Amino acid sequence: MAYAAFRSIGAYAPSKVLSNDDLAKMVDTSDEWITKRTGIKERRIAANDEFTSDMGMKAAEKAIERSGLDKSEIDMVICATISPDYFCMPSTATIISTKLGLGNVTAFDISAACTGFVYILSIAKAFIESGMKKNVLIIGAEKLSAITDYTDRATCILFGDGAGAAIISATDNKDEAIIDIHTGADGQFADLLMSPNGGSGSFHDTLEQEATSCFMQMKGNETFKVAVKTLTKDVVEILKENNIQSSDIKHFVPHQANLRIIKAVGDALKLEDEQVVLTVEKYGNTSGASIPMAINDIYESGRLQAGELMLLDAFGGGLTWGSALVPFSPLK
Ligand code: UT7
Repeated sequence: MAYAAFRSIGAYAPSKVLSNDDLAKMVDTSDEWITKRTGIKERRIAANDEFTSDMGMKAAEKAIERSGLDKSEIDMVICATISPDYFCMPSTATIISTKLGLGNVTAFDISAACTGFVYILSIAKAFIESGMKKNVLIIGAEKLSAITDYTDRATCILFGDGAGAAIISATDNKDEAIIDIHTGADGQFADLLMSPNGGSGSFHDTLEQEATSCFMQMKGNETFKVAVKTLTKDVVEILKENNIQSSDIKHFVPHQANLRIIKAVGDALKLEDEQVVLTVEKYGNTSGASIPMAINDIYESGRLQAGELMLLDAFGGGLTWGSALVPFSPLK
């Protein structure tokens, strides 16, 4: 049987920084409020002519280079995004694969909001274990600034742009394999976090409505409570089912939505500070890109070594959630 190994990571963050002080000039907020309630100090914003696919491509280039694979060996590309270049078609994954010059590969997007990276990891694992694919490029890429209402202080302080990518490859060595992935969803909570317009479920009378149709709306406080409960339950279950103690986790890589959520889950698991990976302060919430951007952060700072066990934990619109036990298994 083939196993799926997490071989490499890459990420890209646009150069433009939007600070809390910048936002305080746009809406009624302050650096103090944002820092205290979210832990975010700044976020990155893509240029007008920089698309989700451009950021995804740059992250993917790094992941491919670090994997040691030739581009011709990649046989599938999956992109997790809620801010695709084009809402209906083509998929951002097909655009990225063409920009990378990958030729004829299977390519498609999935929509699972902030849980997107854990979802595409599970899809890559399943394709590899079934023997259908050997080397899968997975990408979480978001230009959330394109779907953020910068007059709404409840949401515009949270989100940023960026991309992260990984190569998942077939291996015979069980020690290198992704151990387990949990994914879940409950549409009962759909209205907590959504872009309520812009799809076949909405109708627009005016061009103005059309232009703002994809903006995100969130019932932040209710989402917060469900997030803490669900994230904690999910990681407790995946650790228990796999007979792994939280002390065995080298890097806990949660979705970077809010420092208070991350701390609550970390405390529930009795994790030490050095086990918890944090990028929320500098990137804010980049939805499907947040987990791979955080993994890239520990890789580039030399903190992520071969064989070390990561616990990924995500939660987002849908509502969706997921967790994964992933050893870092680069080719020697
Ligand atoms: O990525 C997917 C998952 N996302 C999440 O899990 C996010 C979950 N939610 C959150 O992170 C938090 O709920 C927020 C950071 C969004 C909000 O923090 P909160 O502590 O839940 O604040 P709140 O919504 O309960 O609002 C408290 C007060 C309100 O004023 P009143 O009614 O008490 O007078 C808000 O109007 O803070 C006010 N407020 C703000 N004040 C200054 C809301 N946004 C702001 C702001 N600046 N940006």
